[in-house]
Amino acid sequence: MSGLRTIIVTGASSGIGAYCARALKAEGWRVFATARKPEDIAGLEADGLEAFYLDYREPDSIAALVEAVLARTGGGLDALYNNGAHAQAGAVEDLPVEALREQFEANFFGWHDLTRRIVPVMRRQGHGRLVHCSSILGLVPVKYGGAYAASKHAIEGLMLCLRAELAGSGIHVSLIEPGPVESKIASNGLPFFERYIDHEHSVHRAEYSAQLARMKGGGSKSRLKLRPDAVHAVLRHALLSPRPKPHYVVTLPARIGVLLKRVLPASSLYRILSSQG
Ligand SMILES: NC(=O)c1ccc[n+]([C@@H]2O[C@H](COP(=O)([O-])OP(=O)(O)OC[C@H]3O[C@@H](n4cnc5c(N)ncnc54)[C@H](OP(=O)(O)O)[C@@H]3O)[C@@H](O)[C@H]2O)c1
Repeated sequence: MSGLRTIIVTGASSGIGAYCARALKAEGWRVFATARKPEDIAGLEADGLEAFYLDYREPDSIAALVEAVLARTGGGLDALYNNGAHAQAGAVEDLPVEALREQFEANFFGWHDLTRRIVPVMRRQGHGRLVHCSSILGLVPVKYGGAYAASKHAIEGLMLCLRAELAGSGIHVSLIEPGPVESKIASNGLPFFERYIDHEHSVHRAEYSAQLARMKGGGSKSRLKLRPDAVHAVLRHALLSPRPKPHYVVTLPARIGVLLKRVLPASSLYRILSSQG
């Protein structure tokens, strides 16, 4: 058992998770990183991380991950960063229930399952950090993102209740709310869109062609998009600060969203948001 601080980082094959897992390792953490494809697991191991298979939709893989990590640490864990997720695009009226279920298996039930397995470990040791990568879309809704926004709103509600319940335990809970960050989230959402949304026969088909082009082109091209190091910077604060914040809002568009929600009447906010997406 080493004396390094220990953390599980999920969804470390690309984007934010891939960057954060490697950056934390470089900063001296013992990182247990998860991915799904054998080549991604091998790539993480080649970079000196301890890598494991995890698919949040498979409860057995969550149980196996926790067992394997605790066996390696001798039963402790300093931090968990829930990060792995997919984004199901599509208008709410076009979303089959199965699409919503799969979105919640990956982005909500799996996160809850993993978190619940780690809380007793942290309670026993009297300290811990639970950090969840939510989204600005967990605070404000944007059209055609109903499934994803619902999963992130749900994570906000669940983890803020957990935060209150853990007060005084030495375990801190934080949510990160990124706006646009460079990653594969748009292109990784394409198979889900194609599987579940009958876009050619939808009343929204004209809007979907722009969405499809965005997903195929790797996401929006906004100049305000930041690189994953912006998330890593706030993750470090959530992991190390004596007073971690409940919310970390990342990127200018996300900050503007939070500000507008605070100052505008709801109808004005939703009118502005309905021109987005
Ligand atoms: N990028 C943004 O603009 C943005 C904005 C707000 C919030 N976020 C949040 O940031 C987090 C990271 O996303 P990203 O932007 O870095 O996207 P990404 O490049 O697509 O990375 C997503 C990661 O999650 C993994 N993953 C997907 N489904 C999973 C499942 N069922 N079980 C376990 N792992 C799974 C992916 O693994 P595979 O490679 O195997 O698919 C990948 O490692 C997500 O929670 C996302 O909601 C991103």
